[in-house]
Amino acid sequence: MKNIDSYTHVRGESLYVDDIITRHDTLYGVVFDASKAHAVITSIDYSKAEALNGVVKIFTHQDIPGENQIGGIIADEPLFAEKEVHFWGQPIALIVAETELIARKARKLIEIAYEELPVIVTAREAKEKASLISPPRTFKMGDADRAFAACDFVYEGETFSNGQEHLYLESQGCYAFPLENGAIKIFSSTQGPTAVQRTTAKVLGVPMHKIEVEVIRLGGGFGGKEDQATPWSVMAGLAVHHLKKPVKFILNRHDDLRMTGKRHPYESSYKIGLNKDLKIVAYEAEFLQNAGAAADLSTAVAERTLFHATNSYFVPNVMATVYSCKTNLPPNTAFRGFGGPQGMFVIESAIAHAAREMQVRRDEIQQANLLNENDEFPYGQIARQVIARPSWTTAKEKFNFEKLREGVVDFNHKNDHFKKGISMMPICFGISFTNTPMNHARALVHIYQDGSVGVSTAAVEMGQGVNTKMLQVAQEVLGISANKVKLETTNTTRVANTSPSAASSTADLNGKAVEMACKSLKSRLSAVAASLLKVDITAISFHGDSVYVNGEKSGTSWEKVVSQAMLERVALSENAHYATPEIHFDKSKEKGHPFAYHVYGTAITTVTIDCIRGTYEVEEVKMAHDFGASINMAVDVGQVEGGLAQGIGWMTMEEISYNKEGRLLSNALSTYKVPDIFSAPKKIETVAVATDGHEHAIKKSKAVGEPPLMYAIGTYFAIQEAVKSFNPNYHLKYDAPFTPEKVLMALYEK
Ligand code: MTE
Ligand code: HPA
Ligand code: MOS
Repeated sequence: MKNIDSYTHVRGESLYVDDIITRHDTLYGVVFDASKAHAVITSIDYSKAEALNGVVKIFTHQDIPGENQIGGIIADEPLFAEKEVHFWGQPIALIVAETELIARKARKLIEIAYEELPVIVTAREAKEKASLISPPRTFKMGDADRAFAACDFVYEGETFSNGQEHLYLESQGCYAFPLENGAIKIFSSTQGPTAVQRTTAKVLGVPMHKIEVEVIRLGGGFGGKEDQATPWSVMAGLAVHHLKKPVKFILNRHDDLRMTGKRHPYESSYKIGLNKDLKIVAYEAEFLQNAGAAADLSTAVAERTLFHATNSYFVPNVMATVYSCKTNLPPNTAFRGFGGPQGMFVIESAIAHAAREMQVRRDEIQQANLLNENDEFPYGQIARQVIARPSWTTAKEKFNFEKLREGVVDFNHKNDHFKKGISMMPICFGISFTNTPMNHARALVHIYQDGSVGVSTAAVEMGQGVNTKMLQVAQEVLGISANKVKLETTNTTRVANTSPSAASSTADLNGKAVEMACKSLKSRLSAVAASLLKVDITAISFHGDSVYVNGEKSGTSWEKVVSQAMLERVALSENAHYATPEIHFDKSKEKGHPFAYHVYGTAITTVTIDCIRGTYEVEEVKMAHDFGASINMAVDVGQVEGGLAQGIGWMTMEEISYNKEGRLLSNALSTYKVPDIFSAPKKIETVAVATDGHEHAIKKSKAVGEPPLMYAIGTYFAIQEAVKSFNPNYHLKYDAPFTPEKVLMALYEK
């Protein structure tokens, strides 16, 4: 089935927040933000801005009736700065005016003076100054210290992976307007409608029922709208609360780039111990996460780094520690993979290091250590239905890795100015929110009296195709055609208390709820059909908009049964709640069973570098991916390819840069390079590993949103291989992104 949004997307007819028809009296918001990364505000003068014709009001922390606090996990983040600012771009006030242009002009008229304080930009500096978001956490298995002492080989090193800008095509924004009796409705571009509702209520000091949040769809979120869509909606809500007029507030690209957090940069160190048989016996890692100026989701991201520290390998002795370091950058946040990619880059670096020293190939070490059935993860979960080796073998065999590798070796013999590199990259990603209580969702399904169906869930459509999957689930369970089912917007009054659409779990959690609701409806309608046709209920089934009796098509249609149900006053609506079974985690022991299941896969990447210019091309990426029993291969392959391209950007070219004063230098697309059609692999091939899927996955179709991003880590090491074959003196570095500049320097390093 095609993505149900494809038709309106292509025609430009899909609706986003910015497309909502505004009321005639709508006002517009622009945020006034800090122009220092760490300072005391000594004075602010709004008078000139307020005097500008068309400016309605400037809101500051003093206008907040409830709490000036938006921190989701830790209450450490004011909506508006009060006396001090902690990052460049931190909101101080919201200017509301008759037009956006007037509000922007007014912003320039605000006069502010600061007394500067020391600025921390890097995680290491923060750790040295004991500037931490929360105490460090350690995952431990076996006895790493003792194991290292007995290893044949032990290597230590350091790695860096930079942040990443989400660059959703649709920037952050919302449209809020007053309802009756002080209630407010907010259309928000958020992955977390409930977070917007809860936080707006808290800041305004009103009950949650006064705040209704609705999401049509997002023009991309990628984690950047899990938590960081909230402040803009809260600000607009605050303005509506005071002015009783609609307020539209959409960040322009510059404001969005400067004010929002990104993927966390990590400075890490590792120690890896192996034996002659290539088995990794011990692994130690220390991750310094650059959290930025407030916690946001950093502690959860840090936790996921630990969960993925050993990727798809079994290592019997592990000690992994993460520090969430508080710096003066915008609070960094969720980004596809949620700390997992950062953790996996480090062990892949350690393996590259060991391979070089031991004079073996990276893939030989990787292969020797892949997870097997019943292996234990460092956090205590026992690996079951493990697809690590099947995906590895499928990739190697289907894509003829040995032949590809020989081709690379041959090419490199024959060419002096161009060199090729090839890598294998296995992935293993845990599916579930690592915070167990978040793993639930609901669905509300209405069958209308004409037989058409409306489905509401907590799922937010952000381009990942979740609405298409929800529609498929409803349609299959009810046995009706696709055009009978409509996916409704996501709205907190229809589906309440939701977790954000994140952790790749949206389709599983919401799909299971849709399945449950539709099954209940179907059993009620089966009873109606049975009495209508005077047969036993067990004989009834629904297919293709018709009732079947003992597998034989009857003359009775779906519509007929629905209208009969109306006559018999049978309920045609159902609400269902799903919570992932089995999962648990004990933070005091750092052990448990946090994931419903894992997703596996293996990628083979080939690159060619131009050894005169340092430029390179990704020739091909071939992936054997564990989709389970995919319910929509078109959508799922789209996720694999999109995730891969986004990961290649992170690993190769996207270079976030802040200066020593904490000011974002890569603040536009002229200075921040993202993958385009020319940097995408020339050839991408995806094959499904033959597996049964997992019962906790919706219809055994495994979660697919985030895992493929991590295939791109292979690109880094393929480039590294190519550089090595040109320059034998190159001293391996693990410093992502591997930009053409870095490649050029590596090529000519002495
Ligand atoms: N794909 C598109 N097109 N747009 C997005 O914003 N977000 C990614 C991934 N794929 C995203 C995307 C992220 S970060 C997550 S967690 C998942 O989709 C969320 O959706 P899912 O849970 O339905 O997979
Ligand atoms: N993944 C993604 N988003 C989250 C998570 C997680 O594990 N926990 C909280 N938000
Ligand atoms: Mo995705 S980073 O869990 O929104």
